[in-house]
Amino acid sequence: MVRWLEPVLWSIKYAPHTWDEFVGQDDTIGQLRGLARSKTAHNMIFLGPPGTGKSCAAQVFARDLLGDTFTENFQYLNIRDLKDISVAKAKRDLTALAKLDRSERTELDEFMSAVYREAKTGIALKGRSREPNKGQLLHEAIRMFASTMTLSNEMIKYLVLDEADALDTSMQQSLRRTMEMYSDACRFILITPSLTGWSPAILSRCLILRFPALSGETVMRLLQDIAGKERLKVDDTAFAAIAKESSGDMRRALNLLQISAAGVTKVTEDIVYECSESRIVSAVRRMVSLAAKGSFGESRDLMKQLLAVEGYTPDEVCLQIQREIAVRSLDETTRNALVQRTAEIDFRMKQGKNPFIHLSALLASIGDILSGKKV
Ligand SMILES: Nc1ncnc2c1ncn2[C@@H]1O[C@H](COP(=O)(O)OP(=O)(O)O)[C@@H](O)[C@H]1O
Ligand SMILES: [Mg+2]
Repeated sequence: MVRWLEPVLWSIKYAPHTWDEFVGQDDTIGQLRGLARSKTAHNMIFLGPPGTGKSCAAQVFARDLLGDTFTENFQYLNIRDLKDISVAKAKRDLTALAKLDRSERTELDEFMSAVYREAKTGIALKGRSREPNKGQLLHEAIRMFASTMTLSNEMIKYLVLDEADALDTSMQQSLRRTMEMYSDACRFILITPSLTGWSPAILSRCLILRFPALSGETVMRLLQDIAGKERLKVDDTAFAAIAKESSGDMRRALNLLQISAAGVTKVTEDIVYECSESRIVSAVRRMVSLAAKGSFGESRDLMKQLLAVEGYTPDEVCLQIQREIAVRSLDETTRNALVQRTAEIDFRMKQGKNPFIHLSALLASIGDILSGKKV
């Protein structure tokens, strides 16, 4: 495979690597810069909607504060990815992993293989022989990083837990204990879109930094800069349309600019609207079709892509599912069942803190209802 021919996502190509490359977020970035400069290492929560610079800021902060020891003393874990790794996958030992092609195993796989063995040993020490469950694997993953000594004794370590809203109550409790136990050597940055469902004990240990949705002008400023670097011709109204469609989510704005610019000599407002609508419409159509034919995993992957990579909100995805159901040719009973189920999920999403779980449940129900199984 010729890897270098793959298109590079602009949201990755232009991700900020230094403080000066961030746009907007002046207060938060200023505060973080000050903390890094004075080597003040707090536990922190980065709070805000998608595409506002939280993950990038966590990296830049840790790099700035840790300096030369960044490589050894920094670890990034995405909780949703970690939860998605099955116990069976984590169970593969390093010899089994080594037999796989490089493209089939990731650093996370290798890390989780070590984590699995630690967790299993822990359970064996208690005189039991059962398999560790996912919660225990996660706990072990965090503990393993937090507990190893730093190379230079005076340095601390930073562990970034991205999408930390996916931690359930018992995982939060174990995180709190780990935070206490290793508080002299390890600091945490937790990234989450909201504070609902967070244990007060964790909140009280963290400095909360807010990353609000970026303003339209800020989004446009960065888009104009990048359009210049990519030598694109873009109408002013098209910049405004992208800013409007992306509602302060920079990742989504860059994706939309990139999709709109593909194969045209000039990006216009009309092209932007065409691209921005058709993407979610066609992706949700495919997602529902996959769920309908029982390919739940693929369907869920596509949903994850829409939420985590393309930056659509769970509400938008849910609304689009509802529209998709309305335009499909279905008998009345089936359609009613689907509409009711969607409404139920929409309600639950507003109450719960993990919309991903609820949307996954919706996909599973779509599969069941369309294949005639009772739900
Ligand atoms: N404040 C910002 N300044 C410049 N680029 C940004 C900013 N926020 C987001 N981006 C762009 O969006 C992409 C996703 O940012 P990320 O930090 O992963 O967002 P979050 O973690 O808040 O979802 C980045 O790679 C970058 O291209
Ligand atoms: Mg992120």
